[in-house]
Amino acid sequence: MAKLNLKDIDLENKKVLVRADFNVPQDANLNITDDTRIRATLPTIKYILQGGAKKIILISHLGRPDGKRQDKYSLAPVAARLGELLAGPVKFVDECVGDKVKSEIEAARERVILLENLRFHPEEEANDAGFAKELAALGDIFVNDAFGTAHRAHASTEGVAHYLKSAAGFLLDKEIQYLGGAIQNPQKPFMVILGGSKVSDKIGVIENLLPKCDAILVGGGMAYTFLKAQNKPIGNSKLEKDKIDLAKSILEKAKGLQKEILLPIDNVVVDTVASDSKTEIVGEDIPDGKIAVDIGPKTIALFQAKLKSAKTIVWNGPVGIFEMDSFAKGTREIAKIISGLRAATIIGGGDTAAAVAKFKLEDKMTHISTGGGASLEFLEGKALPGIAALTDKPR
Ligand code: 3PG
Repeated sequence: MAKLNLKDIDLENKKVLVRADFNVPQDANLNITDDTRIRATLPTIKYILQGGAKKIILISHLGRPDGKRQDKYSLAPVAARLGELLAGPVKFVDECVGDKVKSEIEAARERVILLENLRFHPEEEANDAGFAKELAALGDIFVNDAFGTAHRAHASTEGVAHYLKSAAGFLLDKEIQYLGGAIQNPQKPFMVILGGSKVSDKIGVIENLLPKCDAILVGGGMAYTFLKAQNKPIGNSKLEKDKIDLAKSILEKAKGLQKEILLPIDNVVVDTVASDSKTEIVGEDIPDGKIAVDIGPKTIALFQAKLKSAKTIVWNGPVGIFEMDSFAKGTREIAKIISGLRAATIIGGGDTAAAVAKFKLEDKMTHISTGGGASLEFLEGKALPGIAALTDKPR
């Protein structure tokens, strides 16, 4: 069922409660090291202001403070950065519910207000109905733009939507459009690139996408459990022993469906995983004692040849330990290859998005999801509680 979005609602003179995902990384001095998620919410904030809203009350979590007030998880630095990005005043209120918050909102001369971290209250993650009602009492309408948290059934994502007319913000809507579009109605050939260290993290995605896609290209640590399932020697590479049978059954299933699963045919290996380790390229069989840290040049060429014809590509998970420069080539080349294709390129998952950013190819992709766990669950075909709870569009 389609959900209301920002363009469906009258904003004039309204107090608009907006759930954002301002869960941004910070360094030891609490400087924000990546403000992508704040920037990604700007179109929604600006549209609401231009639409004549009386006030916009932003709510978010930051980190996992375990239901307790902890200064290092304060959203105050986010308010400052948001003010810079908007080039306008942002009022920060150091609490998120209660009479004091209500009166500060009423008295504020600023139209943009950011409240303190929702997760300072255990009721947030417990999806407590009373807490959700208190949040709802702060606004006339609710807009959810927190795609990164849409897989959590929390008071500010799911609960609150039951007490106010609730619409998707532009960011949430865009994520639904691209991730949802890729899954429900992909232009074919549809290829999926999967990486990351564990098969167990990607089972749901494989099960959901295998019947819909034409091929799955596997790299990263998870590839070696698949190679082991084919009785290939993998040295000391990453292995999930308890997932070997599962990997076998996935390979069987793919065969039955006549879908290809492409695995590495050569590998970059080391003796120990350290940034200064000497690397060597070996074939499909990994010698005893060696650890695979990246896909090799033949695999890159194989993947390139396969991807050439793709019209839709979903990529989730790096194909090597890209954080270390000497093991980043495979991930960098895959990013470069797909950025040059005439295909819809959809990047899901925090690590893959970070890799694409590291190689400065963000502008060359069709869509980079701001969600980590949320995009994974979306690709698994699960209904996300933060989306499901929004008001249905009238037919
Ligand atoms: C994220 O960073 O993936 C989201 O903000 C959700 O955070 P959480 O995993 O702590 O719920």
